[in-house]
Amino acid sequence: MSALAFQHKAVNLGQGFPDFACDPALVDHVTQAMQAGHNQYPPMPGVPQFRQAIAEKMQALYGRTYSAADEITITAGATQAIITAILATVHPGDEVIVLEPCYDSYVPNIELAGGTAVRVPLTPGTFRPDFDAIAAAIGTKTRAIIINTPHNPSATVWSSQDMLRLQDLLAPTNILLISDEVYEHMVFDGAQHESVARYAGLAERSFIVSSFGKTYHVTGWKVGFVAAPAALMAEFRKVHQYNVFTVNTPVQYALTAYMADPAPYRDLSAFYQRKRDLFRAGLSKTRLRLLPSEGSYFQCVDISQVSDLGEADFCKWLTSEIGVAAIPLSAFYGNGFDQRVVRFCFAKQDATLHAALERLQAL
Ligand SMILES: Cc1ncc(COP(=O)(O)O)c(C=O)c1O
Repeated sequence: MSALAFQHKAVNLGQGFPDFACDPALVDHVTQAMQAGHNQYPPMPGVPQFRQAIAEKMQALYGRTYSAADEITITAGATQAIITAILATVHPGDEVIVLEPCYDSYVPNIELAGGTAVRVPLTPGTFRPDFDAIAAAIGTKTRAIIINTPHNPSATVWSSQDMLRLQDLLAPTNILLISDEVYEHMVFDGAQHESVARYAGLAERSFIVSSFGKTYHVTGWKVGFVAAPAALMAEFRKVHQYNVFTVNTPVQYALTAYMADPAPYRDLSAFYQRKRDLFRAGLSKTRLRLLPSEGSYFQCVDISQVSDLGEADFCKWLTSEIGVAAIPLSAFYGNGFDQRVVRFCFAKQDATLHAALERLQAL
């Protein structure tokens, strides 16, 4: 869709990345780290001070203690953290439950490890987890389940009740949990992010994954981390050592310095909520039907009052004829399930959002 958007000079609300700059202070920290000589390999799990800062933040926000030495590893983005967790724990013949629609790397990662993805749909229409369907999918071969909150693409956020139900469901099992929390600092309307770290019965079996790219508007830097109990982390590091080994040193020092101030991540929900509200107010003047956006930087809409086209054809038409790029939700399902819903990304300058809304109001 980005290539098509470029070809038609469309406003690109398709791919999920900000079109505005990060805080210049963050870039200054990188320069300073390079000038201070932090340019060689860091220790395999990451710069110790950086892991310590992450452990302290998780303690402050979610009330769980992770050992910086043994339970936190810096990764080349969340994507590498997820594949490494899968390669470390999933073996040929194992099954891994994914909740569709889901981020596109999960299923290929499972298959690369020799496992089988068991796809359980989130409830169509609401995208809430269907715990009866998840329970029905659990069998003797189930090795792990992957969850994601706030959720890409649906913008739903799991509640405390959801987490407790998952905890009850997994309690009698040895099933591992990979919790993709890359949008942890984008939760709206006063709700809180329900990190798996808040739930002892989940945390003890979980790899928690996050990404600085989302939090600090630097998706191209590809730096993230994983937190897990020591025994799981030991397995993770056996794979990490031989796929990436280490992650960009000066950026780790820069992020350590920048994290000393909690304001940028503390204020991120309000920052994106204002953009969400601006975008929704404009969309409400169209015949696109707004779905809730509880977290992340995505807004889904139902297209059925505007067009008879399927999602993918609608997105091509919207890009080429109306000049706004969106992503079909069917792209996030293995079987291409088409529910006439498309996703916009509102991590854009206000001017970009206004330009898109002006075009969409012609619908
Ligand atoms: C749900 C989800 N997980 C993981 C990622 C990847 O994060 P990173 O860029 O840190 O690899 C994304 C990026 O779009 C995402 O939406």
